Amino acid sequence: MSLWRASVIVTTAQVNAAEAACALDALAISTFEHGPDWRVEALFEDEPSRDGLAAGLAAAGIDDVSSLEVGPVEARDWLAEAHEHAAPRRQSRFWIAEERGEPAPPGTLPIVVDAVHAFGTGRHGTTAGCLLALEDIARRRRIPRMLDLGCGSGILAIAGARLWHGHVVAVDIDPLSVAATARNARASGVRLTCFAADGAAEYRLKAQRPFPLIVANILARPLVLLAPGIMQRLARGGTLVLSGLLVKQENQVLHAYREQGLVFRARRRIGDWSTLVLQRP
Ligand SMILES: C[S@@+](CC[C@H](N)C(=O)[O-])C[C@H]1O[C@@H](n2cnc3c(N)ncnc32)[C@H](O)[C@@H]1O
Repeated sequence: MSLWRASVIVTTAQVNAAEAACALDALAISTFEHGPDWRVEALFEDEPSRDGLAAGLAAAGIDDVSSLEVGPVEARDWLAEAHEHAAPRRQSRFWIAEERGEPAPPGTLPIVVDAVHAFGTGRHGTTAGCLLALEDIARRRRIPRMLDLGCGSGILAIAGARLWHGHVVAVDIDPLSVAATARNARASGVRLTCFAADGAAEYRLKAQRPFPLIVANILARPLVLLAPGIMQRLARGGTLVLSGLLVKQENQVLHAYREQGLVFRARRRIGDWSTLVLQRP
């Protein structure tokens, strides 16, 4: 199955209107920083009408649609693959299998996750949003040290280890998830430091130097409560990826992290779920 992508550059004041205008029939809506402006991107199962989108944007008060682009996405994309079950599948740059089997196709980064005892096969909108955010970051930066807070199956930690070959710490409040992460890391052939921790304030985490990248896919309420602790573990200039929140909870979570001095950089919406990317100045 192939997918279609539409993207348009808009001002800060136009972001919400542009997202709403593109949302009709879209599988996912993402918004990225684009210089002083924002790029709103929508993925569709079928080719959207450029004229229809332009008319929708104009009706939403966005008259200048000269930046509007519509085009096909590579056939083997993560959303297309998400419709398959259990079989090893490609999800963006990653090759996700539930057990060690056939070698991963050339050019992909293999991850083995048996998520029977922990959350995280990669199919959920929150995990998928985080995997895509990691890929976006990898296009711009090399990350020598990363923290996966609320690691579940360990899928994001393993993805980080695959992308950067750096030091990755994976923690979860649930000891079964920590065990699953350790098992999956072994099966994936990567080294992680995993231990149980409630939030970012655990003493073994405090003993670590601040991280240039933290990924936390937990729920909105705990994310709000954990904001001060997470902020302390994030290095200056570091990037924070937050997920596990619903689109309608974005403002509540953003507010908590802006209060800590973080700056909002990007968001990606998949269905009702949102993934936020923030940066510590
Ligand atoms: C939605 S799952 C995400 C799993 C995986 N990171 C992924 O992206 O698929 C959330 C995980 O956060 C863990 N968790 C919840 N509250 C936590 C806390 N206060 N500290 C650490 N982990 C927590 C849960 O046990 C669960 O494994």
